Amino acid sequence: PEPGWTVHTDVVVIGSGIAGLVAALRCRERGRVLLVTKALLDEGSTRWAQGGIAAALASDDSPEEHLADTLTAGVGLCDEDAVRTLVTEGPAAVRRLIALGAEFDRAEDGGIALTREGGHHRRRIAHAGGDATGAEISRALLAALKEAEGGAARPSGGEKGIEVIEHALVLDLLRDDSGRAAGVTLHVMGEGQPGGVGAVRAGAVVLATGGLGQVFSATTNPEVSTGDGVALALRAGAAVTDLEFVQFHPTVLWLGDGARGQQPLISEAVRGEGAHLVDHAGERFMLGRHELAELAPRDIVAKAIMNRMRETTTPHMLLDGRHLGARTWERRFPTILAACRHHGIDPVTEPIPVVPAAHYASGGVRTDLYGRTSVPGLYACGEVACTGVHGANRLASNSLLEGLVFAERIAEALEASPPPDQAVPPKGQQGLIDPAARADIQRIMTAHAGVLRDAAGLAAAERELRDLATTAEPGVEAWEATNLHAVATAIVAAARRREETRGSHWREDFPDRDDTAWAGHLVTALDGTTT
Ligand code: SIN
Repeated sequence: PEPGWTVHTDVVVIGSGIAGLVAALRCRERGRVLLVTKALLDEGSTRWAQGGIAAALASDDSPEEHLADTLTAGVGLCDEDAVRTLVTEGPAAVRRLIALGAEFDRAEDGGIALTREGGHHRRRIAHAGGDATGAEISRALLAALKEAEGGAARPSGGEKGIEVIEHALVLDLLRDDSGRAAGVTLHVMGEGQPGGVGAVRAGAVVLATGGLGQVFSATTNPEVSTGDGVALALRAGAAVTDLEFVQFHPTVLWLGDGARGQQPLISEAVRGEGAHLVDHAGERFMLGRHELAELAPRDIVAKAIMNRMRETTTPHMLLDGRHLGARTWERRFPTILAACRHHGIDPVTEPIPVVPAAHYASGGVRTDLYGRTSVPGLYACGEVACTGVHGANRLASNSLLEGLVFAERIAEALEASPPPDQAVPPKGQQGLIDPAARADIQRIMTAHAGVLRDAAGLAAAERELRDLATTAEPGVEAWEATNLHAVATAIVAAARRREETRGSHWREDFPDRDDTAWAGHLVTALDGTTT
């Protein structure tokens, strides 16, 4: 639809998780910033992050060791320069977060308390509120944002200010004649805001829209994670890479067969503190499978759980943390304890039923080390981006760190040339997907493109996705369904093309890693073409 109103700014940041908030706070040194978010400011994935943020902060640790663990988890597809940037800049970035007001849990000696998670050979994960790390980081960043706003709920922006628009779904990228990003179109739903579809004209666009877990039926991601940024980038023709590597978290609380939507996460930190994965006979099936046992990288643990479920024809495995004791559960894992008890499970006295669920997109909009995408003026950071640090499988707790480090780097390099007088309107989305098809997309993806994949299932997914009705009227639900459809189609295309098993991409018909044919990355276009 034609934009009904236009606002101007220097930098528009889309998304309000760790990446978007840090980008907005740092980019205001470069000019006026407009921060746009789809729901309320704290409704994205960051607030749900439990385990923590990884950084080589301990005296017995080093960025080199963090690098080694990250490269191992990424199974040959990490960009080593990007990982080196992440792990060397990470500790100082975490300290800046602390200086800004984030309060991490402390050890008895007053230093930052550090735990372990899958794939880490050291205690390297800083946490807050026990298992509420993301909520604390979000709180601290939002407090800083409020200050940047001058305390006003809705400031008028102005020089070096940050203006915020909540309840606004980003639709498409605006470009100037030269092809440079020149802003975005938005649909604003909030009261007291300019309503309907409008345009934000900006000299630079920063995508920080988060993940795409809602493409699957069961996910750790909140409702808002519908892949909007990846879909926008696909429509804009920006390079989008590694989409086949959707990570499944090994342990979400099993809520019965057919559980749908956001599932309660049982952090890897619970295993980091000593809980064991067992089958229904009480056997620790990770022993002997990997030197790190339950703390192997998460693709290995997720696959082992799926295999054991198949072998024993049971719908879940068990996470036994009874030996941690009531005090540890209450102090370290208050959120998880409350969630389990809410669902009738008491981890202090009984093992927790767990299954894998969609958790994190390791791929996304391809960027360089300063968040620049293949479209001039368009930047990306956080889960929507593919900086190259995750490769085929993200190392636990590297995601908050990536959002933090690379959002800061965008602010260093950003060129916010003034918005041009003329912006070429986006072509608009052809054939919007019926909102009722959202559940069909999730069913198709879970059945055919989830943890276990093969050629026949992926071909069926491609066919079924192609056959979904495209007759919806414009509206938020139709745009979201269309975004989910675009992202699902691209994931299936990439997963079909990659005929090997690597990291979180598990092909049952190609069970081995194949470095001869598949050591590179796939770029996927909106029409499903992969190169
Ligand atoms: C967790 O707490 O297990 C999740 C951490 C992550 O996804 O990095």
